[in-house]
Amino acid sequence: MMEHELIMRFLAEPGDVNFGGKVHGGAVMKWIDQAGYACAVNWCGGYAVTVYVGGIQFLSPIHIGNMVELHAKLIHTGNTSMHIAVDVYSRKLQEDIQVHNTHCVIIFVSLDENGESTPVKQFVPENDDQKAMQSYAIRLMDLRKNIGREMGLRS
Ligand SMILES: CC(C)(COP(=O)(O)OP(=O)(O)OC[C@H]1O[C@@H](n2cnc3c(N)ncnc32)[C@H](O)[C@@H]1OP(=O)(O)O)[C@@H](O)C(=O)NCCC(=O)NCCS
Repeated sequence: MMEHELIMRFLAEPGDVNFGGKVHGGAVMKWIDQAGYACAVNWCGGYAVTVYVGGIQFLSPIHIGNMVELHAKLIHTGNTSMHIAVDVYSRKLQEDIQVHNTHCVIIFVSLDENGESTPVKQFVPENDDQKAMQSYAIRLMDLRKNIGREMGLRS
């Protein structure tokens, strides 16, 4: 994989179950945070913390025993922030059909040894796909300003 992206692959275990017999939404959110963290730290080379997780949509359930894949991809950098798109896929081990379960964008901030936010090297998109994803990240930032105002929070 390239420096700005990674894949995490593992089996959905019985301990990940919800009350309906499928994978718990909270387990998926934890995996998203882990994949995003690994991607952010790969990029900044230090420590990073989550500051925002946006627009998680559970498109379809994940079944216990299925192979789960998280694709984490850096799509934009600010001064200290790293915007990472995470997609979750799963498939039955016996089949070759992969289902798209979840998508979201998660933002990490790079911290120095004193716990202060610290600048990251800039992500420069190299192809049309990367440029489109960076524009998407910037559009989401603009949308969040309105949501933040509506909720009385920071943008
Ligand atoms: C990360 C932290 C130290 C940053 O503090 P800070 O330096 O005063 O924060 P700033 O306002 O300068 O923001 C730093 C960057 O984060 C971004 N950011 C902060 N909060 C954000 C939010 N809610 N949504 C999107 N971006 C956010 C800012 O836009 C800025 O990006 P940039 O440098 O690329 O322009 C502080 O917000 C913190 O400790 N947060 C809690 C993190 C945590 O505990 N995470 C685990 C959650 S369980």
